[in-house]
Formats: sequence, C-alpha cells, structure tokens
Amino acid sequence: MTDVRRRTVLAAAGGTAIAGKAATIARAQGPPGPADGTGKPPPPPPPGPHEARVQALLGRMTVEEKLGQLQQLAWTGDTGPGGGQTAQAEKAARAGRLGSVLNIYGAKTTNTLQRMAVEKSRLGIPLIFGLDVIHGLWTTFPIPLAQAASFDPAVAERDAEVSAKEARSNGVHWAFSPMMDVTHEPRWGRIAEGNGEDPYLTAVFAAAKTRGYQGDDLRAKDRVAACAKHLVAYGGAEGGRDYNTVDVSEARLRNLYLGPFRAAVDAGVATVMASFNTVSGVPAHGNRHVLTSILKEEWSYDGFVVSDYNGVQEMTVHGYAADRADAGRLALNAGVDMEMASTTIAEYGKRLLRNGQITTARLDDAVARILRLKFRLGLFAHPYADEDAAVTGPTKATRATAREAAARTMVLLTNEKSTLPLDTSTGAIAVVGPFGDSTDLRGSWAGPWVKAFRPVTVLDGVKHAAPRAHVTHAKGVDAAGKDTGGIRKAVAVARAADVAIVVVGEGSTLSGEASVRSDISLPGQQEKLIAAIADSGTPFVVVLLSGRPLTMGGWLHSAAAVLEAWHPGIEGGNAIADVLFGTVNPGGKLPVTFPRAVGQIPIYYNHENTGRPYDPANHYTSKYLDLANGPQFPFGHGLSYTTFDIGAPRLSVSRIRAEALRKGDTIEVAVSVRNTGRRAGDEVVQLYLRDPVASIVQPVRRLCGFRRVGLGTGKSTTVRFRLGAEDLGFWTHDPDGELLVQKGEIQFYAGNSSLAKAERTLTIT
Ligand code: NOJ
Repeated sequence: MTDVRRRTVLAAAGGTAIAGKAATIARAQGPPGPADGTGKPPPPPPPGPHEARVQALLGRMTVEEKLGQLQQLAWTGDTGPGGGQTAQAEKAARAGRLGSVLNIYGAKTTNTLQRMAVEKSRLGIPLIFGLDVIHGLWTTFPIPLAQAASFDPAVAERDAEVSAKEARSNGVHWAFSPMMDVTHEPRWGRIAEGNGEDPYLTAVFAAAKTRGYQGDDLRAKDRVAACAKHLVAYGGAEGGRDYNTVDVSEARLRNLYLGPFRAAVDAGVATVMASFNTVSGVPAHGNRHVLTSILKEEWSYDGFVVSDYNGVQEMTVHGYAADRADAGRLALNAGVDMEMASTTIAEYGKRLLRNGQITTARLDDAVARILRLKFRLGLFAHPYADEDAAVTGPTKATRATAREAAARTMVLLTNEKSTLPLDTSTGAIAVVGPFGDSTDLRGSWAGPWVKAFRPVTVLDGVKHAAPRAHVTHAKGVDAAGKDTGGIRKAVAVARAADVAIVVVGEGSTLSGEASVRSDISLPGQQEKLIAAIADSGTPFVVVLLSGRPLTMGGWLHSAAAVLEAWHPGIEGGNAIADVLFGTVNPGGKLPVTFPRAVGQIPIYYNHENTGRPYDPANHYTSKYLDLANGPQFPFGHGLSYTTFDIGAPRLSVSRIRAEALRKGDTIEVAVSVRNTGRRAGDEVVQLYLRDPVASIVQPVRRLCGFRRVGLGTGKSTTVRFRLGAEDLGFWTHDPDGELLVQKGEIQFYAGNSSLAKAERTLTIT
C-alpha cells in the first residue's frame, strides 16, 4: 500500500482530493478483487435504440456465453505471435463462446464462419470480424504519416471511405484504425502508422478518419466500425524501441497523448484498443485510470475496449500480473472489454467470478458494450456479406483517389534554383536508384492481401508523364545490400541524360510494428550512389521513400531538389511524377521534425524551454557540441513551386476574460494569405500559440489551427480559426482532469511552418 500513501500525500500537498484514484493504484498489493474498488463498472451509458434487445439477450446468456463474447481469436497469426487459432475459433463459434475474430476477410470465408455462430450456436449471436485495414484494403493509400503531411483531413477521410467499402463488402465489420499515437521517436517503426509528433494535427486526422470509416450509419454496406488505438502513450516508448516502457506525467499524458483519443471519441469512434506499453509502471491493459476513469467515466465513452494482441496475457511478462488468471482479472477490472488472441478472461472468468475477483456487473457491462456494437452494425439482421457484391480489387475511380491523395502528401524539402518542376519536353531522363522501378511503395501494414495488385513504379510514372522523353533506368545499388558494383552503370546512365531522378529510401519492412532502426539514414550503399551521381555532373533530384524521417548527412545539399514522397501507395509512381513534372504543385508539410542526426532524438518543435536555451554566444546553454543547433527540417516545413505571403494573425478581441472562456466563449483569429508567385498552388496556413508564463511550463509554441488552401497566381484569401478554452488552456497533473485557462498573455504566430514569425498577443484577464 506504500504507493497509495505516497500518492495521497503528494496530492494533499497540491490540495486535490484523490481518494478514488488512489485506490486504483493499490491494485497489486491490495485485496485481489473488486473489494479494492477496481471491479466497479462505469455508469451505464444513456440507453440507445438497441438497449431493450441488448438487455433481453444478456438476460438469456449463461456465464460461459457472456465470457465467450469477450473473446476475440486470430484466424491467422499474421499480426502477432502464436500462430492462427482457426480450429479453436470454429469450435468456439459453434458453441456460442466467441465474440469476434481478427485477421479474417473475404465474403465467403467470413460467411462460412459466421454461419457456425449464427446457425449452430444456442443464441445465434453473430461474430464481429476485425482486420488491420490501416491505409487501404485493395486500394493502398499513402501511409498515415504521409496522409498527415497533406495537412488535409479530407485525404484521411477519403482513404477511410474507400477502405470501408472494400472491407465491408469482404465481410470485415471493423478496421483496427485510426492509429493516433503521437510520437517524438523517428526510430520507432510505428511512426509510419500515426500522424507524427503533434497532438492537434493528430486529433484532426483521427476524427476525420473515424468519420470516413463509420459514416452516419454503421449498418450501411460501405461502412465499418473504427478503432482508436493504442490507448495510451505507446509512441513514448523509451529509445523508440517497440513495446518499451513509458513513464509519463499526468499533464503530459493529457496534453500530448490523450487529445487525439478524445477527438475520436467525440467523433463517435466505436471501439478503442489498449496499448502494449506500461504507463508509469502500470501496463495499459491493467490501467483503470486510463481505460475506465478517463475514457469511460470522464469522457462518457459508450463503446468497447479491445485488448491488443496477447496484451492481457503479457501483463504477466511485464511483472504486473501474478499469472494468466490474474491478468484476466486485472484487465477486466481495469476496463478491457474484449481480449484479443490470449484467452485469460474466457478461461478463468468463471473462477474469478466465484472467488469474487470480478463482478457480474462488470462482466455484463463488457458484454453489453460488445452487443450494442453488433446491433449498431446491423449484424443481427444481416450477419452475412453479399458474396456477389464483394469488391475484388481497386477500381479506376479508387486508384484516381489514391493518386490524388498521394500527390497531396508529398513534401518538397529543397528546390535549389527552382530545378523542379521538370519539363516534360526534357530530352533524356535517367531514373536511378533501388526504388526507381520498385513496387515496394505500399508501406507497412498494407497487408498480405494486396500482393495481387502491382503498384505503379516511379519509372512507370515518369514514362507516362513524359512520353516524348528518352527514359532510362539503372538501379545502382540494392535497397539495403553491400554491393556497389552497379554504381558504375548508374553513373553512365545518368551521364547520358539531361537530368537524373534518384529514387532512394527505405523499404516497407523497415517501418511498422516491431521494425525499429537505431540508424535512420539511407540504408546500405545508397549514399554512395548519390555521391557518384553528384560526381557525374548531371543535374539530379532525389525522391525519398520512407516510413519515417530520415537523417540525410552530406548528400542533402548535393542534390538540386529533394522530394519526400513517403510510402505513397498503389498509385505512388504516378503521383510522384505528377509532382516532379508540375501537374501537381506540392503543398504537403512535415508532420514531424526531421533531425540532423540520431543523437538529437527526441527533437520536436513543441518542446519546453530550458532555463538556458541555445545561445551561440554563451557556452553554458543547451546544445550539442558536435552538431548544429535545431532540426534538419522543422515541423510544418514544405516548399511549393510558387510563393505565398502570410499576414500576421488578426484577433477578434485583444482581451478576454478567463471566466468567459470557461463558459464557452471563443475568439476568432483571421489570417490572410496571398499567392505571390507565378503558379497556382496550395499553402498550409499554420497558426501556433504560446503561453509564455504558466503554472506548468508550456511548449515554446504549439499548433492550434491549420488550413490548406489552393490559390491561383495573385489571388488571396482569409482563413479564420475559432479558438476556445480547450485550445488556449492546458491540462494539469490533476488525475481527475482539470483544464486550466490562466490569466496572462497568449502569443499567436501565423506562417507556413513551425518557424512562423508573424505575431499578435491576446490578454486573458
Ligand atoms: C498488434 C498491433 O499493435 C495492433 O495495432 C493491431 O491492430 C493488432 N496487432 C492486430 O493485428
């Protein structure tokens, strides 16, 4: 009980009553059951349209059937350890002891299994089928990190709409997406799956993607339930190593990690997935503070929480649960409603109930949450997919949407002497590099199912875009190998051309789950290839493919231009060519800071100030001796083929009362933007704020609004942002969630990156 006492004293010093919370911390050492306060279910959500049927069904269920609803088994072992549980799933479906299956798709396959549950089990409760549809099923869109770079939430929404249609028609009711783990760790492979380092940008994308998957009616044939994951702070893994420890203060939890989940809940997200990491010593799967107190009570979330793959059982390995039964007890009492892959709750639930270590009330609450979604999805009325209507591949229209999306995600990092866009009448173009004619453009989590559809390579795209040019290709080096033997040919090919497009980067398997790198520079011999092309004397541009920020070293400035194309998906080659030849004027911006070197990590724009910020004139300031200060490219950076002028932010009021903000009053910030160049193009107007004096030190700036606008030459527009207490205030260390709006100044900056300069001040009185 020491933990509890320590926490109480600390809280008492801060004057906050925490009796209820303290009890939740006492789990391991306290009485092993609901007597410690953890078994209490959250208050039931207000009754929805299906409540009577949910309760009636619940009333007819045996304990075994209830525990069965809480179980999700894996059809294949593609996405986690332990192999597929196919035979077990079939048996459990027939016995009415299964709620869900993951890693399954296909109208016929899902229908066969669904029939076992609906037609053979006693109560005929349908299964819900879940799949990792992360950025497309057949039509692979750019990776989510790239989508965030579009600074256009419509890109994520369209991906989700296309994905939902393809998935639902193939019997999938539930996408394990959007992933919304904010991270400061480019080494972490899962940075590819999220929206980067900014909580506001991530929140906007999380809501958009949720809307795209779910629409207004989950019964629709082209919608699926979404899953906000991973709750919480998974992106804080120490050293960027996957699944690693996270120790985070309550204030940071709320200000950095929780906002996107709140946005997804507000957008109606049907499910939430717990994360693999510990949160300040308590595994997320056993973390009642997060899963119940915050999610289900404070936010009144009425959906269900699914564990991650074996995440419940793994609490024994963390050293938190004594054994598998204890893990099941901890998870259910903390707020996990459905267990993925491991089977602790279903196996030990009866014994735990008998021993009073879990309660029927909490069990019923979990079952009811799952049944509600099955009713919302219309599964009782229509359990089967229409086998004749299954979408079997990308269509012309979905490919066009994916191409447009990919082109919007690209970020022009440098462009010396306006080398880009290239002229389609260029006589000879060399496409060089290991990714020049590679189909490895889909990125991580594209799924094993997409193999049938060949992505458009950069070479294909360039040939289509410049049909009169003489286009040649040489690989030079492999994506990751040691051999430099091919460089000579690549140089010869480049020499014979008017311009070379050097396509380099990291393959899809180098990012994603469990794919962490300690060195995030170009793998293999690719830097040598670039150096050799630079020596050839032919002007060249670099196209970078990556699932994360890469460090670039000396080669960066040898290239006339560098285009970050991420992992752009099935239409990648066409979209890259669209940007290279100027059919599309790039308007993407970095959703994450690009470091100069790995040693700088974590480096992110919304950091706190030290007491000694870097000052070149003063030795005793915060810096690295062996590295220039600051990032290689800052958050929000991205060039265009035209230029824009962004004015200072204009505030609707210069003073406002804190009390008025607390009661819901808002201010408007207007920013004008003008295209001052010679091409039409897109600009992302970015609004940042800083609270320079606060009771908890605030970031040097943080994004509080953005809008991507398209403008013709000489044209201008004004974008308007409405900001209220949640934008201007911050969360404190109060575990009950207190938003503070303090008196004092708020500085606003408008511009086209996180270095935005134009400034105005609001005074809160
Ligand atoms: C583990 C991953 O962490 C999660 O994101 C995914 O949805 C599940 N496996 C299911 O494949």
